[in-house]
Amino acid sequence: MCGIIGYTGTRLAAPLLLEGLARLEYRGYDSAGIAVVTPEGELAVRKAPGKLRTLVQELEGGLPHGFTGIGHTRWATHGPPTKNNAHPHADCAGDVVVVHNGIVENYLELRRSLIKEGHRFTSDTDTETIAHLIEKALPKAGSLEEALRSAAGVLRGANAIVAMSRREPCTLVAVRLGNAGGITVGYAEDGMLLASDLPALIPHTRRLAFLADGEVVAITRQGARYSDLAGRVLEKGPKTVQLDPEAAHKGGYPHFMLKEILEQAETVTSALRGRIAFDPPAVLLEEFPLTPQEVREIRRVVFVGMGTSFHACQVARLWMERLAGIPAEADNASEFRYRQPLLDRHTLVVAVGQSGETADTLAGMEEALRHGARLVTVCNVEGSQATRRAEGALLMRAGLEIGVAATKTFTASLVTLYLLALHLASQRGRMSPQDLLRHLEGLTSLPHLLGQVVAHREVYRSLAQRYAQREHFLYLGRGMSYPIALEGALKLKEVSYIHAEGYAAGEMKHGPIALVDDRMPVVALALQDPLYDKMLANISEVKARGGTVIAIGTAGDADLAQRADHVILLPPTPELLSPVLAVVPLQLFAYELAVHRGCDVDQPRNLAKTVTVE
Ligand code: F6R
Repeated sequence: MCGIIGYTGTRLAAPLLLEGLARLEYRGYDSAGIAVVTPEGELAVRKAPGKLRTLVQELEGGLPHGFTGIGHTRWATHGPPTKNNAHPHADCAGDVVVVHNGIVENYLELRRSLIKEGHRFTSDTDTETIAHLIEKALPKAGSLEEALRSAAGVLRGANAIVAMSRREPCTLVAVRLGNAGGITVGYAEDGMLLASDLPALIPHTRRLAFLADGEVVAITRQGARYSDLAGRVLEKGPKTVQLDPEAAHKGGYPHFMLKEILEQAETVTSALRGRIAFDPPAVLLEEFPLTPQEVREIRRVVFVGMGTSFHACQVARLWMERLAGIPAEADNASEFRYRQPLLDRHTLVVAVGQSGETADTLAGMEEALRHGARLVTVCNVEGSQATRRAEGALLMRAGLEIGVAATKTFTASLVTLYLLALHLASQRGRMSPQDLLRHLEGLTSLPHLLGQVVAHREVYRSLAQRYAQREHFLYLGRGMSYPIALEGALKLKEVSYIHAEGYAAGEMKHGPIALVDDRMPVVALALQDPLYDKMLANISEVKARGGTVIAIGTAGDADLAQRADHVILLPPTPELLSPVLAVVPLQLFAYELAVHRGCDVDQPRNLAKTVTVE
């Protein structure tokens, strides 16, 4: 969480930093701040609590002048979202400022001893400790880079830090310690940049280098020098990343979330592109690192992820068993990392994550590596920590996702995971070419079907109007639709702040049915699959207790319309692929309800796009 940007070059820093922060605000929006080295050699620090617009308004009177600076948008961990707690944080002398993402786990102990030594703190943050540690180290270290290295040596926890000193006015230094989100170095025509995420960099350059754990970088307008924590110089340079800067804009839509929901036909196409052959039928997953022999030796697949990515894992688990015949589990990464899972080299761990920087998922990956399991990731961000730690990375290729609620990356991760299951199935001789062909045709029909599903937004708007004042929803599904019920409930709560629970419909009678009354709408996924009749029975049970049912069904189903209060019909699709379509109405429903309730859809309260702390 938290967005970081830094620049040194020939352009004025402040406007560039503010523009970068606007692109990073989805990382956190509790406060924002910038610091610039002025031509007089002073540090001009400007910060404000709340969203970036407050800072921008405050700066309308004049931006600080200078060509080197850093900026930060905060997702508060230590201390409330006040001006004092906003980054950048300075040392006592006001010579050094830092911005930071992560948690300094031993900050209390460090803070106490720094206070004893005479340092004066002005905030509640763990970050400020770093500024004072640098101040303390500077006389002996001689340079900002060495002082940061020295400070990094005593910090515990996962942290990404950028520091600037008025005594070295054209230099920025940064370090990455563990998995606190990345620091990416951008090589632009007019200077050099540092940022926590790509949206802030791609308007300026696509020549990028990614800091790995334990790496330090010092940038000047001429270039970058990389080293490790012991000060050894590292040979490292930029590589050119293919990304479309337009994708970072809303493209005429009122919210990124809506844009991202509506572009799923394209993003699913992009995830499939070049990965399918029809004659003979084959899945082409060059990035998958295991040889056919190693694939045959796999005895178990474990999918790990968090939030929406965990729901993708729950779908993938079913696919892996049904298609490839390999026993499979899905685990919440924050549980997996601590539960001492039984893993060996015959276990394939698949870490699923949009950002590739989620702390718990990365820790789960480390656990897999420690036990000698095979490890791949399904990820949307090339160069992220997950892609670097895994043996192979299957990219979702969904493009940048700016809305904090994951939408298009969910469906992109699903089709990528489906391809993986098909790949393992065919390599293990579990699937005839005819069957494989049928599955591949199913996959390639998805973009067209997704286009149909998103075409009727007015339905969701009118449902939203009707149900916007309800405070609780139940989402029910079975089989392939169960994880989609969980995902639908998650989408609703995170963007509209309405309480929602997803349940396996079979659980209803074991407790949740007690909640059903005429104030509690039930969203039921009743697609025409082998569990359809069971779902109909559940719907009747809700209706018999005065409940309201919004059902998601399959086109042509007249029965459902008789039983439910509202029916949204999806085009027929093979049972296994139904989750890719079924989630979309739930995304649109959550979106419209949130808009109707006046919620901040793209930046819901308390959330951040990338959860780099556990
Ligand atoms: C929900 C959402 C989160 C993320 C979760 C994992 O809309 O976005 O639940 O899915 O924080 O993030 P990644 O996928 O980046 O590991």
